[in-house]
Amino acid sequence: MNTYKIAVIPGDGTGPEVVGEGCKALDAAARAFGFKIETQPYDLGGARYLRTGETVSDATLEELRAFDAIYLGAIGHTDIPPGILEKGVLLKLRFGLDQYINLRPVKLFPGVESPVKGKGPAEIDYCVIRENSGGLYTGIGGTSRQGTKDEVAVQQMMYTYAQVERCLRYAFDYARAYGKRARGAGPRNTLALVGKSNVLTHMYGLWNRVFAEVGEDYPDVTREYYHVDATCLYMVSSPEMFDVIVTENMFGDIITDLAAVTQGGLGVAAGGNINPEGVSMFEPIGGTAPMWTGKNAINPIAAIGAAAMMLTALGETAAAAAIDAAIAKTTPKMKTQLANQMGYTTTQVGDLVASEIA
Ligand code: IPM
Ligand code: MN
Repeated sequence: MNTYKIAVIPGDGTGPEVVGEGCKALDAAARAFGFKIETQPYDLGGARYLRTGETVSDATLEELRAFDAIYLGAIGHTDIPPGILEKGVLLKLRFGLDQYINLRPVKLFPGVESPVKGKGPAEIDYCVIRENSGGLYTGIGGTSRQGTKDEVAVQQMMYTYAQVERCLRYAFDYARAYGKRARGAGPRNTLALVGKSNVLTHMYGLWNRVFAEVGEDYPDVTREYYHVDATCLYMVSSPEMFDVIVTENMFGDIITDLAAVTQGGLGVAAGGNINPEGVSMFEPIGGTAPMWTGKNAINPIAAIGAAAMMLTALGETAAAAAIDAAIAKTTPKMKTQLANQMGYTTTQVGDLVASEIA
């Protein structure tokens, strides 16, 4: 029997509640499909930082390399200034484990109402591959003459050829394996590069060139290019035109929040920070939701979806598909996907999904 060692980081706020429901789904899937999940909890996040002053130590980072995957709830704390936990925990894990892909499926589940009028599950069904290791997130820059009118702030967007190439290769491989033709959902597999080549001429000169170069190896994947501003417009006006999108880090951060709202909100949006050659980390893309903490009111669907993505990465694709199918049977029963307005509690939604898996 295959055994998977999973590091679980419940984190702050509603993180522990949603991760608990995700683990319930994992256990049900493990029983039904005959594998074992061994979890080890890691106390990381805002509460821990306030207690000990520590974010993620180098020793912890080394320990995490020994796991098959990491399952994360949410990190954040209203008493901690912005930047400390983001850089000290989330980005430290992403960069330290070189999780250079942020995979964010945009899928409207059955029975979920999209705020985009007239669009259903057939129209909102694509995926954003966000580069996760470079760009503005590299943190290159600085300030000087602070506190004067001559204050200068610089924050630079940077990419190496190698970073762009590995991201695009992953994206082409993904489009080939999971694009619309591969899924039987359309006539071709399409990869759309999203950028701003009309202004960021250096940066998108590089991305576009590598896109064409790498694309030569994928004649079965149709290439498209869209500016990021137009992409936002299309994501609302005609989401059905998208299949697989690939973009740099900051643009990917922004468009995936817009994408999340079109698929029913942060209660359902899941993502994976992926190192295809190393340890990957799966999470609901929403935050800690302090207002709903401890109330058994938060939506666990995103966290459960992240658990399914984790199983796919581990190679348990049938179990992952069973969790996705169980989610698709549960969402139509829920009143809404909003916290405290689901018609069920957090644990009840988790129970519904787990019983569908079994
Ligand atoms: C996300 C978040 C993070 C990001 C923050 C919390 C560092 O917004 O996962 O999308 O910007 O990547
Ligand atoms: Mn974000």
